[in-house]
Amino acid sequence: MKLKQFRYGDGNLAYLIYKGGSAAAIDGGAVEEILGFLKKNSLRLEYVINTHDHWDHTPGNSLLLKSSKAKFLSTAELTALKFLVLEDSSISVFPTPGHTMDSITFSFDDWIITGDTLFNGTVGNCYSGNYEIYFKSLGRILNFPVNTRIFAEHDLVNYALGVAENLDPNNPHIPAYRKSYNSDFVVSTLEMELKVNPFVRFNDTSLDAFREKLKMPLDTDYEKWRAMMTVH
Ligand SMILES: [Fe+2]
Repeated sequence: MKLKQFRYGDGNLAYLIYKGGSAAAIDGGAVEEILGFLKKNSLRLEYVINTHDHWDHTPGNSLLLKSSKAKFLSTAELTALKFLVLEDSSISVFPTPGHTMDSITFSFDDWIITGDTLFNGTVGNCYSGNYEIYFKSLGRILNFPVNTRIFAEHDLVNYALGVAENLDPNNPHIPAYRKSYNSDFVVSTLEMELKVNPFVRFNDTSLDAFREKLKMPLDTDYEKWRAMMTVH
């Protein structure tokens, strides 16, 4: 399976995943670029799908569907299907509610596409209001092997590293993360997130001094995470 990342709007990221002659567009807001890439590489767009139903992820759907014979599958349909087949390969779909209740994550090879659930360097807003369910979804993502590559739907790396530096100024891993950043191909690994992203480092004692200032319960991983989300 191959993946091509596109940028559109204000740091939004879109993806085309493809195998043989078949492709699926995920949050395909970069319509012109996606159609050009499909044509240049003789790819047939089979599916138009989204990581969740927020307006800034769906603006390309109708034009992509009009310009191809692709089928649209909603997040609910994808969740029920559990996987999507392209040629002889499958992409797993699993629910990761929290940012929104319909948020899903796609996984194939050692890559995951996490939508607005986990970003490179930070996490999404809990628009659903259900923090418990968001925490469980992050747990599912963090259960992947540490070399898993994370593709998200917004490039927030510079902002996220600024926040991480404020919360944990002596973190020796932040400069390496910053150095590896490439705006033409935004990706990190789970291992990098577990060293740098303050919103997934539940057991990292270097954040304890900051957490204690918040005067919130800090007995469980969930409580530690919930405390950090107040400064998100
Ligand atoms: Fe969103």
